[in-house]
Formats: sequence, structure tokens, C-alpha cells
Amino acid sequence: MTEKIKILAFGGSLRQGSFTRALLNSTLEMVPAGAEIEIFELKDIPMFNQDFEADPPEIVKKFKERIKASDAILISTPEYNYSVPGFLKNAIDWASRPYGDNSFEGKPIAIMGGGGAIAGSRAQYHLRQIFVFLNGHVLNRPEVMVPFMHEKIDKEGKVTDEHSRARINELLIALVAWTRQLRH
Ligand SMILES: Cc1cc2nc3c(=O)[nH]c(=O)nc-3n(C[C@H](O)[C@H](O)[C@H](O)COP(=O)(O)O)c2cc1C
Repeated sequence: MTEKIKILAFGGSLRQGSFTRALLNSTLEMVPAGAEIEIFELKDIPMFNQDFEADPPEIVKKFKERIKASDAILISTPEYNYSVPGFLKNAIDWASRPYGDNSFEGKPIAIMGGGGAIAGSRAQYHLRQIFVFLNGHVLNRPEVMVPFMHEKIDKEGKVTDEHSRARINELLIALVAWTRQLRH
């Protein structure tokens, strides 16, 4: 039997009622066969301080351990001022350090998110750039960028837009295939 692909997912925003968090939650309703998804909460990760990178706070140690134990990473990001939100960049910075102990090294990664008219695309491309340095293998397609995402999610946080759900489903299937492909 083929081994299960363990996907560690994180992101969204710290806001209650976050739409990008709703996108993340929707993945739990469509876990591909042969895969499992765990969502990691970033809200308690403190601000990065290089003085502590070799012996970071417990929550950071746990984050790094979960990343390393995973086969693939899934990130859902909003766009803040045309870029990656600070809390997300901060978490990635912790997990990338100290030098020589980058948790993302060689990991297959999928990115999704949404925003207004341009659907958060600028943040996603900045995120891709970050993973060039961190040597993460970011999946090129499908690009899941949900425009006007506030119209696609209901008050209970359910993604109601069928097109968006289908794209997220495609992304998950592609991430599992990409992960298996990179293994060989
Ligand atoms: C600080 C800040 C900056 C924002 N900048 C952008 C932006 O550059 N592009 C965009 O499409 N939306 C921007 N927005 C709107 C967000 O896309 C919107 O608030 C979205 O719902 C945030 O994701 P969330 O629902 O997961 O919290 C910004 C929101 C905040 C709070």
C-alpha cells in the first residue's frame, strides 16, 4: 500500500471570521484519497528574535517539528498591502532558522488565498519568492486566487462558491501528485 501523504496546512489570518481561514478549513472537507491534512495554528507564535533562533519558544519548536514531519505544506494567505501578512512571514522566518536548519528545505508546497479584485495574487507571488530562497518546491498550477472572497464565503465560514471549491480540490489533488513525483 502507498504511504499516506501528510499535509501540514497553516495561514489564514488571526481575525475571527477570517475568509482565508475558511478556505483552509474547506480543505478538511475534501482531503484527497491517500492524504491527511493537519491545520497548525500560528496565533501564539511570538515575534522573531534572532537571539533565540537556536533555542526558540516551545510553539516554534512544535511548528518546526510538524513541518519536518510532514510530506507537504499548504498555505492559505490573505494579501496585506500588496504582500504577505507580517504574522505569516514571521512564522516562516522562525521555521527557516537557524541557518542550516531550514524546515522548508525540499518541501512540496501549495499556496492559495484570496482578496479583492486582484485576488491576493501579489501576496502569493511574494510568498513564492520567499520559498525560492528557502528551497521549497512550490506547485505552479493550479493557482487558487479567489477574487472578492468575502462574497464566496457565508457567515458560518463555509465556502459556498462551487468554482472556488473545485479549484481548491484540484490544488489538493495536484499537491499530492507533486509530492509523490518529487519522491521519485
Ligand atoms: C492591513 C490590511 C491590508 C490589506 N491589503 C490588501 C491588499 O493589498 N490587497 C487586497 O486584495 N486586500 C487587502 N486587504 C483586504 C483583505 O484582503 C481582506 O481584509 C481579507 O478579508 C483578509 O483576509 P481574512 O479574511 O483571512 O482576514 C487588506 C486588509 C488589511 C487588514
